Amino acid sequence: MQSDWSPSSWQTKPISQAVEYPDRAAFDQVLSELSRLPPLVTSWEVERLKTQLAEAARGERFLLQGGDCAETFEECRSSVIANKLKILLKMSMVLIYGSHKSIVRVGRVAGQYAKPRSMETETRDGVTLLSYRGNLINRPKFTAEDRTPDPRLLLRGYERAALTINFIRGLIDGGFADIHHPEQWNLDFVSHASRSDDYRRIVRSIDRSVYFLEAIVGRRLDELTRADFYTSHDGLHLAYEQAQTRQVPRRPHWYNLSTHYPWIGDRTRAIDGAHVEYFRGIANPIGVKVGPAMTPEELPELISVLNPSNEPGRLTLIHRFGAGKIERCLPPLIDAVRRHGHQVLWCCDPMHGNTVVTRSGLKTRSFDEILRELSLAFEIHEQSGSILGGVHFELTGDNVTECLGGARGLTEADLAQAYLSDVDPRLNYEQALEMAFCIAHRMNTKQQRMSR
Ligand code: PEP
Ligand code: CO
Repeated sequence: MQSDWSPSSWQTKPISQAVEYPDRAAFDQVLSELSRLPPLVTSWEVERLKTQLAEAARGERFLLQGGDCAETFEECRSSVIANKLKILLKMSMVLIYGSHKSIVRVGRVAGQYAKPRSMETETRDGVTLLSYRGNLINRPKFTAEDRTPDPRLLLRGYERAALTINFIRGLIDGGFADIHHPEQWNLDFVSHASRSDDYRRIVRSIDRSVYFLEAIVGRRLDELTRADFYTSHDGLHLAYEQAQTRQVPRRPHWYNLSTHYPWIGDRTRAIDGAHVEYFRGIANPIGVKVGPAMTPEELPELISVLNPSNEPGRLTLIHRFGAGKIERCLPPLIDAVRRHGHQVLWCCDPMHGNTVVTRSGLKTRSFDEILRELSLAFEIHEQSGSILGGVHFELTGDNVTECLGGARGLTEADLAQAYLSDVDPRLNYEQALEMAFCIAHRMNTKQQRMSR
């Protein structure tokens, strides 16, 4: 660990997306309480994840990371959490089929409550208030009271995260008996897909493999495997993150124990800024979002600050350019990272560069554009002799209508039916599963080509 770092050294640096609390005493009191409460995850889980991410960087595993753009306290409910976990586990089974690799499963979950915003304030009918910054900071309703940062929300967020992770651990331990056989998945949408035969072949193949395995060992799959599942969130609110940054017995490092795998957002990754300062000192595996403004000069420098010892598994670059920009933006960055000899895990977030606003003012994303960016990402990494080791989605296990397209061909007119997100649009259950089928189909075709 660097001697010039401490969990609070970020406070001396410029802070982007900073939050000002009018009641400073109440804020300090909450932070002191947070720093005494028990951690949500453990250092050995964090280290195990780092090892698995190192394997993903070498192409031996594949990372699936997904969940809401922002969780809300309201949606901390059993059905919502269970559905989110189920869709991620189902997607991971489809990806095992496609990649022939173990999948590292990570939720944007149990703490994804703070949002960076492009505009600090919002004006309606001549009234200007702070933008909604996520449930950890303020409330979405457009009143002065709701939009004023409320420090008590930090405690509510910690508690909701704890409730969520507790329930996830229980569900995972219970084995989730109903997800292992695709015949029990809701697959009605497949008949609407143009590639329905491919999807059915994937489903039959997973089903046969599960039966085969169960027949060999004489037990049901849910009794056999305890799926690993990890949490992640944007480590945006540094005072909150600092309060849960701990040292543990017999380990020299500091860990952020509010989550396994925090990431730095594209708006907060300034090399001399507070977020990079905080992140460089924690021992967790970390992600950095990399958007179109990143240059081949800046990236190796940022990597040297965040992972000076080139530790495998430590750093994931989550690129999010947009389908129209990835061919221009990605190759020079892959090249720069290789020239400097940095070991990173490359992961593609095909969501954040593909957001558009409809005529009626709703933020949306098209299934086809998301898939196009992903396909280009696979191709570009392959052609550059690099490895795309993971994918990052905004998704939900519920039947929302926020993204366009997919097998059912959702149109702009359909979006109003169930548009629930206060922030970015998510793939719904069917679109998310179909996306996994598309990736698996691509990976599997490549496996077959290679084994011929
Ligand atoms: C997000 O992941 O929700 C997000 C805001 O992403 P980015 O930092 O890449 O814009
Ligand atoms: Co988002």
